[in-house]
Amino acid sequence: MQNIAISDKHIMSSPTKSALLSRSDLESFTAHLQNSQRIVAVLGAGLSVSSGLPTFRGAGGLWRNYDATSIATPGAFRSDPGLVWMFYSYRRHMSLNAKPNPAHYALAELARRKPEFLTLSQNVDGLSPRAGHPAGQLKLLHGSLFDVKCEDESCGYIRQDDFSDPIVPALAMPEDESSVAEQSNVRPNQAIQAAIATKAALIKGLDISDANIPIPTIPRSSLPHCPNCKTSLLRPGVVWFGETLPEAVLSDVDAYFDEVEPTPQAEGRNKGHMQSKKVDLCLVIGTSSQVYPAAGYTYHARAMGARVAVINMDRSDARDLREGDWFFQGDAAQIVPEILKSVIGEARTSEVAKAG
Ligand code: OAD
Repeated sequence: MQNIAISDKHIMSSPTKSALLSRSDLESFTAHLQNSQRIVAVLGAGLSVSSGLPTFRGAGGLWRNYDATSIATPGAFRSDPGLVWMFYSYRRHMSLNAKPNPAHYALAELARRKPEFLTLSQNVDGLSPRAGHPAGQLKLLHGSLFDVKCEDESCGYIRQDDFSDPIVPALAMPEDESSVAEQSNVRPNQAIQAAIATKAALIKGLDISDANIPIPTIPRSSLPHCPNCKTSLLRPGVVWFGETLPEAVLSDVDAYFDEVEPTPQAEGRNKGHMQSKKVDLCLVIGTSSQVYPAAGYTYHARAMGARVAVINMDRSDARDLREGDWFFQGDAAQIVPEILKSVIGEARTSEVAKAG
């Protein structure tokens, strides 16, 4: 591994940015990036933090005292679909009110400049597509908050790009204490009043991630129903713990890693001899690398020759770095555009299409 980002040899990369990058790391990374064609990025929730969206682990990671591994499961949906839908309605609402940040735009621009760059995102927030990331080069490993599908697989109904907020009236974010008290018969207390005063900027209503804010119990009849079979509920089109990744996504990613090219000696009697294409570089951005198979793609890229660059706030989430890798510590929204600048220039920062 090369020098850690903040070292005694810093440069201030731009007068308006506070990210301090080691000059030698930046130079060696830039040289490698410029010569790289086959690039893989593995993205996680940290990419969207500066857009205002929370991560899953660490401070602020819990939703009403639930962690993602307990609420993002088929079992949780079966036993309490109203609660699980409320969790996703909240995340849809937050994501729709959030905006892509400079890192989303920078990665989208890198994809346009490097056609063999493939991004594997664990994020379901829709911010990479809204930043104009070319769809063919973006694989949404965990689906999208804005896809909904029938809970009954045999029905097969799926609806993409549903940006309605709320998706049904019962899943609207509670607006004020009186409406919550009315729906839930719970009298608001001082903690609720305080939460109302400090509600996050993205939430047009109460911040129901706080377990002190009462939420209504939503009857099954008020949840979104499948318009096809008319009996089952619709569910968010995201991958839950215990489920496999979407087949089409898996096969596209496998196809990328399985690409072959003729060996250098592929002439004469060796004609037709093929070898796997190398991966040049793997960018691991804003992920704790704890959830598989997503985290495993970094190892896969490394096994195919990639040098790894980790961008994360937390040094301890940069796992298994080796000689020749890089660790850039700090906010992805500042660091990613900076380290890609020699290839992408100043990335544009306007949304291609506004959801909603
Ligand atoms: P995590 O919450 O596990 O990790 C977020 C990572 O982002 C941590 O390593 C933080 O240190 C880092 N981070 C925080 N702020 C950052 C910033 N401004 N810039 C850069 N890095 C920052 O989120 P994921 O790794 O995405 O799956 O979690 C993976 C999966 O677990 C999610 O897709 C979700 C979750 O449970 C499902 O729901 C299936």
